[in-house]
Amino acid sequence: MKATVTYTCSSCGATSPQMLGRCPVCGEWGTFVEEVSVAEKSKGVRQRSDSKVQKLQDVSVQEDQRLDMHCAELNRVLGGGLVPGSLVLLGGEPGIGKSTLALQVLMQLGATTTLYASGEESVKQIKLRSERIAGNPENLYIVAETSLEKILEHAKALKPEIVVVDSIQTIGTEAIEATIGSLSQVRECAARILQFAKETNTPFIIVGHITKEGSLAGPKVLEHIVDTVLQFEGDQHYMYRVLRAQKNRFGSTSEIGIFEMQQDGLREVTNPSELLLSSNREGLSGISIAVAVEGVRPLLIEVQALTSSAAYGTPQRSSTGFDSRRLNMLLAVLEKRIGFKLLQKDVFLNIAGGLRVNDPAIDLAVLVAVLSSSMDIALPTDCCMTGEVGLAGEIRPVNRIDQRISEARKLGFSRILIPAGQKHQPVKGIQIVEVARVTEAVRLLFKQS
Ligand code: TYD
Ligand code: MG
Repeated sequence: MKATVTYTCSSCGATSPQMLGRCPVCGEWGTFVEEVSVAEKSKGVRQRSDSKVQKLQDVSVQEDQRLDMHCAELNRVLGGGLVPGSLVLLGGEPGIGKSTLALQVLMQLGATTTLYASGEESVKQIKLRSERIAGNPENLYIVAETSLEKILEHAKALKPEIVVVDSIQTIGTEAIEATIGSLSQVRECAARILQFAKETNTPFIIVGHITKEGSLAGPKVLEHIVDTVLQFEGDQHYMYRVLRAQKNRFGSTSEIGIFEMQQDGLREVTNPSELLLSSNREGLSGISIAVAVEGVRPLLIEVQALTSSAAYGTPQRSSTGFDSRRLNMLLAVLEKRIGFKLLQKDVFLNIAGGLRVNDPAIDLAVLVAVLSSSMDIALPTDCCMTGEVGLAGEIRPVNRIDQRISEARKLGFSRILIPAGQKHQPVKGIQIVEVARVTEAVRLLFKQS
């Protein structure tokens, strides 16, 4: 069998016959890794031969019954439960809690027969972990195994309703010679698992580690093989963990699930807003409250800013949980449209709780928090805001305004700033203030002093 060596970009999957420093396709540096590929015949998964052509009209659309994961947050992110025969990739940085989440979910499934195959931990270690977590694992089977063939054999014999493989980077197939964890192994194993999953209608959750830069090892190759990509993220120093669907053939990708890492496993967070707001904000400058929407859920988010005179020539701009380019844009708006000079100031921005927020509707709160810190004037604590900020300093409309308003009211805010002209239902118990421009918002919020 003739082995050939090719080089593959671990970030985008582009291949080249020689080693390259920079990927010509995605432009990333230092991502090329060596791949040994064996002759075509033995490589790759057997083609399935049972396909038949049929009329689109004749295809039954009756959806398979989804499996209830007994975890509302996970069910939601999956789009209403796990689809039989589907392949789910659970990605995240090492130590974020992927193994804990996977094991805990299986443990809570009670009578359902499940298999947890780990290439990372011994059965003893898995047992020790399980003892920390609450659950009733009547029919949870575990195996410490790194051979894919063996894992699939066990699955065939046991006929579990769900299989977890932890992690894809630690198992390998005998079919190819590449080392475990290499791109070819990861891809080949995933392809074989996919075939097994479809043939037996068994759903698989495969855990995958991502690198610090945020890419899954062998990322794109896996992303297009699997049906669903779930990303488990959070800050190691905070207890909150967010589960996001990055790709989902069976549901929306805008949903998120929020968990809290505790001594005894992960706890679902059903009322995130209450947890994210610190109770004692009175009199503190640099703090504003944004009403964001993640997925379809409104969230009240505490934005914290700190500005101080730059100690060195170039002022620092640092942001946690918020896009730093967007922060720079907002600072430019602040300077140009409000005439507020931040040139000689360091600006630090933080989204409380270690969350990462993508919703542009928190722009206004970010801008106001920076202003509040640099003027050292605290904002009224009963007021929250939502609105995207444009380059001209205009406040742009946001989606799901009614949900945002009612969430703010539910959490006891008496005033909310929203983009001017945005249609909304009248709500009792909260004053809705429409603002068209940043200057207007600033005047309103800082007028008492
Ligand atoms: P783990 O699931 O091993 O992470 P991953 O599989 O993503 O690498 O979880 C790692 C962290 O979670 C570890 O630092 C310990 C912590 N942890 C808890 O705080 N509570 C628990 O009940 C468990 C099982 C883990
Ligand atoms: Mg793990």
